[in-house]
Amino acid sequence: MINDLWYKNAVVYCLSVETFMDANGDGIGDFQGLARRLDYLAGLGITAIWLMPFQTSPGKDDGYDVSDYYNVDPRYGTLGDFVEFTHGAKQRGIRVLIDLVVNHTSDEHPWFQAARKDESSPYRDWYIWSKEKPENANQGMVFPGVQKTTWSRDKVAGQYYFHRFYDFQPDLNTANPQVQAEILKIMGFWIQLGVSGFRMDAVPFVIAKKGADIDKAVEQYDMLRTFREFLQWRQGDAIILAEANVLPKTDVNYFGADGDRMHMMFNFQVNQTLFYALASSDCAPLAKALEATRTRPQTAQWGHFLRNHDELDLGRLTEAQRNRVFAAFGPDKNMQLYGRGIRRRFSPMLDGNRDRMRMAYSLMFSLPGTPVLRYGDEIGMGEDLSLPERKCARTPMQWSTEPQAGFTKSEAPVVPVISSGAYGFQHINVADQRRSPDSMLNWMERLIRMRKEVPEIGWGDYRVIDVEEEGVLAIRYDWRNNAVMIVHNLNEKPIEVRVDPGRGQGSELLVDIADGSDSRADEAGVHHLYLEGYAYKWFRVGGLDYLLRRTQI
Ligand code: NOJ
Repeated sequence: MINDLWYKNAVVYCLSVETFMDANGDGIGDFQGLARRLDYLAGLGITAIWLMPFQTSPGKDDGYDVSDYYNVDPRYGTLGDFVEFTHGAKQRGIRVLIDLVVNHTSDEHPWFQAARKDESSPYRDWYIWSKEKPENANQGMVFPGVQKTTWSRDKVAGQYYFHRFYDFQPDLNTANPQVQAEILKIMGFWIQLGVSGFRMDAVPFVIAKKGADIDKAVEQYDMLRTFREFLQWRQGDAIILAEANVLPKTDVNYFGADGDRMHMMFNFQVNQTLFYALASSDCAPLAKALEATRTRPQTAQWGHFLRNHDELDLGRLTEAQRNRVFAAFGPDKNMQLYGRGIRRRFSPMLDGNRDRMRMAYSLMFSLPGTPVLRYGDEIGMGEDLSLPERKCARTPMQWSTEPQAGFTKSEAPVVPVISSGAYGFQHINVADQRRSPDSMLNWMERLIRMRKEVPEIGWGDYRVIDVEEEGVLAIRYDWRNNAVMIVHNLNEKPIEVRVDPGRGQGSELLVDIADGSDSRADEAGVHHLYLEGYAYKWFRVGGLDYLLRRTQI
C-alpha cells in the first residue's frame, strides 16, 4: 500500500541524454547509449531517472528551448529509441520522469514563427506582446549579467515579446486556454510513451500572470490543479515534480492544501541552508528551514539535492551567509554566476575531501523527502571552468580510461570531456571505481541501499533534536511504531555530544544500521555519542533488526 506512492521513497538520478553515453559514435549521447547503461543505473540502485529535455531543439539552452514537443531531437535518436529506453527502464523497475518545459518555447518553434508573422494567426495570442517597450523591461531577468532585458523587439512582428529567460525563449501565454490544453496534450503524449511523470520547469513563471501591464507577480495556482487532475485521470501513479524556488510561506499553494496540486517540489530553501551549514558548521539555519518547510499534505513530498545542472543558487541566504558559502566553495569570481550562485560541481567545491563529501551526501539522503542525485556525482566528477555559464558542470559522463572517457568513439564530443588535472577521466571514472570497494561509487551504492531500508524518512514524522553543538544535526523519524535517529557531525574535528532522542519505545538503545555498533542511554535517557570528524550515524531506535521492523508494506 505505501509503495503506491512510489515517489515518497524514490531515489532519483538526473541526467542529460546528450552527455551520458554515445552509442553511434557521432560524439553526441543518445537513447541507445543510455539504454545500454540501464544496468549500470539499476546496479547503483536508483529507482527513477529524470531526463533533462531531449525534444527537438536548437539547443541554445541545452534543450530548455523546445521547437517540437512531440519528438525526440534527431541527434539523440527516434521516438522508437525512446520507447525502447522507457521499456528497458521499466523492465528493471526504474521509472522515468522527463522535463516539461512549457513556460516558453524556442523562438524557432513553428508556433512562434506563425505568431510573429501574422497578427491574425491563431498562435499570436499564444505569446505575450506589447506595442511599446514596457517600463519594466529591465526587471525580472533570470540570468542577470548575461540577459539584458525581459522584453525584446521582434522585427518581423514589429512588437516587443516577453521572455522571462533568454531572448530566444519567448514566454507562452499560459493563461490562454488553448495553450493550457496543449500543455495537457503534451503530458498525455509522453505518458502514453511510458513516462511516470514530469519535472516541471520554472513553475512560478508558468502560473504567473504575464503582460506589459503586470507589475507584481500574481500566481494562478488553480492551473496546477488542472495539470494534476489531467495527469492522474490519465495515469494514477504519474507525478509532477515542480521546480519552484519559492518562499516557504507559499509552499502549500504549490502542493495544494488538500494535496491536489504538485506531488513534489525541490526544496531550495533547505538546499541553500544546507550549503551554508557545510560552509560554516552552523546547522541552525538548516534546522530552521526544515521547520519552515514542514507543512505539506501527507501525499506530497520534497525533493532534496546537493547540486543540479544549474548554478547553486544562494539567493535566499543573507548576504553574510552567501559570502560565507562563496568563500568556502567558490571563492573565485569565475566560479560564481549571476551574482547569486556557484557554478561548480560538488566534489571540487569540497576539494575532493571524501569524508566530507560522504557526510554531505548522507545528510542530504537523510532529510525529510526524496533524494535527487546528479549524474557523475556518484563518482565525484569535476567541472571545466573554461566553459561558459552553467555548461562547465555539464561535461560528458566519465565511464573509463578509454579515449573520451569511454563516452564516445568520436574524437569530437559534443561537450569536451574533462581530460586533465585531478578530475580528468584518467583519475575519475566508473570502471576504476567499480573495482575499488572503497570508491565513491561503491559507497554511494551502499548509501542508496541504506536509504531504501529506512522508509521512515519518506513517510515519518520528524523532529530535529536539540544538541548543544551547532555543527551537529540530529533528526528523529517516527513511523508505524518504528523510529530512526540520524546524526551528522559537520565539523572536521571529532566531538562528543549528548543526545536525548526523547522518551518512547526503545529510545534507550540505538543501533547503527551501517556497522551494527550501538549506544545505550544513561539513566536520564541521554546518549553520549562520540562522533569522528564528518561522521554520519544512522541509528535504529530500539535496535530492532532492520529487516524485522516493518509492520506493513
Ligand atoms: C530552469 C532550468 O533548470 C534551467 O536550466 C533553464 O535554463 C531554465 N529553467 C529555463 O528553461
